[in-house]
Amino acid sequence: MTARLIDGISLSAKIRDELAETVAHLKATCGITPCLAVILVGEDHASQVYVRNKVAACEKAGIRSILARYALNVTSAEVLGKIAEWNADPEIHGILVQLPLPKQFDTDTILSAILPEKDVDGFHAENVGVLMQGGHSCFIPCTPYGVMKMLESEGVNIDGAEAVVIGSSNIVGKPMAMLLLAKHATVTLCHIRSRDIAFHTRRADILVVAVGCAKMITGDMIKPGAVVIDVGINRTPDGKLCGDVDFESAKEIAGLITPVPGGVGPMTITMLLVNTLESAERTLK
Ligand code: GUN
Repeated sequence: MTARLIDGISLSAKIRDELAETVAHLKATCGITPCLAVILVGEDHASQVYVRNKVAACEKAGIRSILARYALNVTSAEVLGKIAEWNADPEIHGILVQLPLPKQFDTDTILSAILPEKDVDGFHAENVGVLMQGGHSCFIPCTPYGVMKMLESEGVNIDGAEAVVIGSSNIVGKPMAMLLLAKHATVTLCHIRSRDIAFHTRRADILVVAVGCAKMITGDMIKPGAVVIDVGINRTPDGKLCGDVDFESAKEIAGLITPVPGGVGPMTITMLLVNTLESAERTLK
């Protein structure tokens, strides 16, 4: 193995320990307990696991959490009513609607109902717009925010680097590209219709893969010494977790690489806690 691992578990633990101290301090000095309110619709197994982990992480950090669970056939009006109630509640600092929503929902309508200053997922059009303009007043979507923290913690030079992002989702790919651009990388954003993905990946000093396709990026598609960030979480036919990068071949070529599990995954929830605390702190300003 030539690549060094970027350990998302230990970086997460460090950030969460510091965060828990700040949360305790905020409670003791200002009487404010950061609070995250979460909406979960339907029975999607992965969403249930994510939400359970988010709620558990809040509890461990001293952040209060509220969960509203709805059956698959809940109406949009009912969910919008809950968001309006939480928007008006000064003791709630962050509101999150777990995605994907069932088909009857217009996701944009739901997300834009959340007050931008409580949108700790960073999915509201206003927060997306501020990120696009390179501003700092927005909430940054948690997964790409976590990736930036990983790059920062490893001292990766982003300025002028060739950064290639595979996957153009609103949750990861697009905000990831904007964050890398804001740090002066030359960014290529590849998507489902991109031709010759390997042509792009082989040029990447920093390669971020978020497509949801098991082991799609193999070692021969990676530039020697590159930083490889694997956002994918997939299951192999024998039930094991794996990323979008073929770790076995990639680790022989890359300089730095994130494992799956134990890489980007824990950072996503960590940055949600960071955003929730940030939102609570902003109420003091
Ligand atoms: N579904 C997958 N990732 C996310 C996320 O970061 N936030 C929300 N709300 N839903 C998701």
